Amino acid sequence: MHEEVWKRPDVVSRYLNERARLLPDRQQQVSVLLRLLRAAPRAPRRVLDLGAGDAFLLTVVLEAFPEATGVALDYSPPMLGQARSRLAPFGSRAQVVEADLGDPAWGQAAAGPFDAVVSGFAIHHLAHERKRELYAEVFALLEPGGAFVNCEHVSSSTPRLEELFEEMMADHLWRQRRDAGLDATPEEVLREYRARADGPANILAPIEEQCRWLREVGFADVDCCWKLFELAVFGGFRPER
Ligand SMILES: C[S@@+](CC[C@H](N)C(=O)[O-])C[C@H]1O[C@@H](n2cnc3c(N)ncnc32)[C@H](O)[C@@H]1O
Repeated sequence: MHEEVWKRPDVVSRYLNERARLLPDRQQQVSVLLRLLRAAPRAPRRVLDLGAGDAFLLTVVLEAFPEATGVALDYSPPMLGQARSRLAPFGSRAQVVEADLGDPAWGQAAAGPFDAVVSGFAIHHLAHERKRELYAEVFALLEPGGAFVNCEHVSSSTPRLEELFEEMMADHLWRQRRDAGLDATPEEVLREYRARADGPANILAPIEEQCRWLREVGFADVDCCWKLFELAVFGGFRPER
């Protein structure tokens, strides 16, 4: 199965080594996520990071909200190992849980309720029908007034825009390499980007559709609050009553 690619140590270490370079404007995505958590009707005291990887997002949230505790949930043993190391300084404020988001039983493993659920570039590995069900499961795990914020890879609306996204990514990666003194042509970088091992594991859904799914399962104030081609930060709040 394609998604099992994230259990491979080589894919995990490549992603973690390159993430800062790979994802343009990650800082901006994070600041939009934190702004949404601050604006939620309910303060984020207990937070869940879905498909947490090395718990990058949970770490950002625990640093921003010193009263908060959190759970990093993922199904990849090498990622979970990285999450344990990254979260060690938080002691009992952070917990790591192994569970598969493809199986609705993940909710019991996570042991809710939560005041906020965040996710970074993980839910797009699930089939569309499962994404939709997952949004309903997240809604059920949230306390009234809680927030769900997803930093996500979404689909382009046309092949032409998908091509533009890939060119933008390749251009971004090429500039980073050039600045680091590494030798590669823009065409080589684009070819490499298109051939990356985790690419086929992406099952991208349109942002409009995902926002509609969130509204349908009951979320309020649903919107895409930041977007750069296929990179988006979107979510909503569970109504207070
Ligand atoms: C691109 S990485 C993102 C990691 C991290 N959230 C971040 O923002 O950098 C995708 C993560 O989703 C996890 N993942 C993919 N499918 C999953 C599933 N079915 N259940 C749990 N985790 C999953 C992978 O193991 C990986 O850690």
